[in-house]
Amino acid sequence: MEFGHRSNFVFVLERITTITLIAFALIFSTCSKDADSENDKKAVEVNTEKSDYYTEQYRNQFHFSPEANWMNDPNGMVYYDGEYHLFYQYYPDSTVWGPMHWAHAVSPDMVHWEHLPIALYPDSLGLIFSGSAVVDHQNTSGFGKDGKAPLIAIFTHHLMAGEKAGGNQYQYQSIAYSNDRGRSWTKYEGNPVVSNPGIKDFRDPKVIWHEESQKWVMVFAAYDKVRIYNSPDLKDWTFTSEFGIPGDKRLWECPDLFPMQVEGSDETKWVLITSIQKEGPNGGTATSYFVGDFDGKTFKGDHKKQYWADYGKDNYAMVTWSDVPSSDGRRLALGWMSNWQYAQIVPSEKWRSAMTLPRVLTLHKHGNDYRMRSMPVKELANIEDEKVEIPAKVFKGENLISKISKDHLYKLELTFKKPSSGDLGVRFSNDKGEYTDVKFSGVGNHYYIDRTKSGTISFNENFPGVHLGEIDYESSTVDMIIYLDHASVELFGDQGQCVMTEIVFPSTPYSNIEIIGGKENAELIKGTMTNLKRIW
Ligand code: FRU
Repeated sequence: MEFGHRSNFVFVLERITTITLIAFALIFSTCSKDADSENDKKAVEVNTEKSDYYTEQYRNQFHFSPEANWMNDPNGMVYYDGEYHLFYQYYPDSTVWGPMHWAHAVSPDMVHWEHLPIALYPDSLGLIFSGSAVVDHQNTSGFGKDGKAPLIAIFTHHLMAGEKAGGNQYQYQSIAYSNDRGRSWTKYEGNPVVSNPGIKDFRDPKVIWHEESQKWVMVFAAYDKVRIYNSPDLKDWTFTSEFGIPGDKRLWECPDLFPMQVEGSDETKWVLITSIQKEGPNGGTATSYFVGDFDGKTFKGDHKKQYWADYGKDNYAMVTWSDVPSSDGRRLALGWMSNWQYAQIVPSEKWRSAMTLPRVLTLHKHGNDYRMRSMPVKELANIEDEKVEIPAKVFKGENLISKISKDHLYKLELTFKKPSSGDLGVRFSNDKGEYTDVKFSGVGNHYYIDRTKSGTISFNENFPGVHLGEIDYESSTVDMIIYLDHASVELFGDQGQCVMTEIVFPSTPYSNIEIIGGKENAELIKGTMTNLKRIW
């Protein structure tokens, strides 16, 4: 695939005017032309082939969402035979949470998705709650066929009747296998493989192969901590240890545990991700992590050092893909782009919620400690269209930089000189006076997203607000990568050190982008604006 990197603004405007009738004046003066007629043709074809599919109000255009009905956590993320699998919590009969299934989609690049039939249906052991999937390369389970490694899904069965009866043993871990690239699944007749010792919240298994001990490791949430189990064959599991914050009674969900090489060194540390049901950095649910060591049985980490993987309100249950080839070596993640505070009443009508953009996670030394960073995956270049340079200059007040794209889908890359006082950043707005600000505060030394006037906000009191992204590092610049879709904005600040994911519901997609300098003006060192293509 080839991508356009053209930057002649007049040319872009002319072409887009003809196609879309939406051209507008701009402030740019110096842009060089690098037109490639083959790319032009492709871009035109893509832009004119718009159908009714996935064009509803509030429908994100380059994020995964189900065609209809309710979705929550990503599940069973595994790479197998050239495909990234995404299963997800799904209720096919309504746009609010209900009896859970695992729905299914596959992608060659984590960006373009093909919907497949529902993979796992509720059964006599219960509903199908969150979990993971692995490739059983050595066929330890014996479920392989014709010399091919089976895919194994590990999930929580939730027995509604048990919950209603007032017991506390209605969640347990089960497995299913597939011999046809995830197209059909057989549940193991010996389910559940981990029974419940009497812990009410006992769910969301994530399984990894632990190379050193040649064993499978399962980590799952048990109310306010995680439990870790071992198995030789994915069927027989032995409890080994647990990890939690003493005295902290918040509910944990959807953990993940994996090794990461510290960037620029040979050191390996283990990251334990866990999603937290309340008191996220800006309220409600959020994804956190710890960094420590793991010997195959016990995670040793400082329970006082719990960090946020994302400061926005809308990245929950983020977990990583299993079996990404070692030749690739990336740790790839995806989260559910919502918050349980309001997920079931957001104003989309036909379906509910979308996933975050896929991200690559890296681990970095941070003083005497470590921090994880998240950046958008490079495959997102597959949806890049015209790219325009924004010349370096000092922006005073508000400056319209764009109103050009037919689909209103943007990626901005902006590097500013760090202000010591005053704010700077970007305002996305529409002609109805609705806007979302993505900014850096020089006084507070933090990022923030203001969605108080973002569009439809009144459906829940916890939705509108000014949400802060904390910074605990030094830098002389403010480096922003921002992805804007019809109903979301994602900020990757300072090479992924401060990430904020937030959903928004403007009554019409934002079409104006302004760079805003506060008291101190905004000194742009370099910038680009890229139009993005829809994936549906
Ligand atoms: C997290 C979660 C999981 C559970 C699933 C049920 O969002 O509550 O703990 O398995 O959703 O849909």
